Amino acid sequence: MQQQLPQHIAIIMDGNGRWAQRRGMPRSAGHTRGVDAVRIMLTRCRELGIPYVTVYALSRENLGRPQQELAFLFDLFLRFLKSELPELERQSIRLAMIGDRSALPLTVRTALDYAIKRTSGGTMLFTLALAYSGREEIMRAARTLAASCPGENASPEEWERAFRCGLYNPELPDPDLIIRTGGELRLSNFLLFQCAYAELYFSDRLWPDFDNAELDRALAHYAGRKRRFGLTESQIEEGNIPSSGSLPHSVRGCPRSETEDRTS
Ligand code: FPP
Repeated sequence: MQQQLPQHIAIIMDGNGRWAQRRGMPRSAGHTRGVDAVRIMLTRCRELGIPYVTVYALSRENLGRPQQELAFLFDLFLRFLKSELPELERQSIRLAMIGDRSALPLTVRTALDYAIKRTSGGTMLFTLALAYSGREEIMRAARTLAASCPGENASPEEWERAFRCGLYNPELPDPDLIIRTGGELRLSNFLLFQCAYAELYFSDRLWPDFDNAELDRALAHYAGRKRRFGLTESQIEEGNIPSSGSLPHSVRGCPRSETEDRTS
């Protein structure tokens, strides 16, 4: 029997530095191996038909790391965006970005724009969270809402829709499964609004050691969960359609001014 697969997997890739330091190597070597793990994971998700994958490649807080490590990471992103482009296109993977674009060097922004444009026809969405902060995203959405309130008679759904229009990518569905490697049990400011009903899988593996077997374990963990979204088991058995609370997972058709320059 085929197991229930998540539609959206979001991953906190932790442990690159420790992976390298345990081998007496510079932290940068861990990041380099981390890219290999991304490539392997993405290909496997593609094969499985998982339509949305998001990776936390750089948090807003990571921007405070030593200049040398940051410069290495930006260069790594640049090389990834160039070298992986043919493979992303071949696998019909569409690239997107969430986070604070203005905090990224121009070279990275330009390479991102190019890769996003070139892969725009892809059928699977691969989102890089870069210079990303969940709290900051919530604040942005709150500002958007303040600027375009739906009116006092609006329903809770309309309020949420208007709020979601201020997220970096309102069309990105909430994650069904969040995986964190590296042994820590926290979310570290990742997708704070969207994680409301996500299943969580914490792995002791360091990110460069994350392989298909560990992905399969995370997927088996997910398949073994009963997702009730606050309802009772018998309600689910009676065929009530579970949704993320009473509200939509994602929204389409937001006014352009609210979303432009955020997902690209
Ligand atoms: C956290 O490990 C990882 C990062 C801050 C960078 C993540 C980047 C990659 C996996 C490579 C680039 C990815 C793409 C998609 C191009 P850490 O350095 O905090 O590890 P530690 O907790 O062991 O110090």
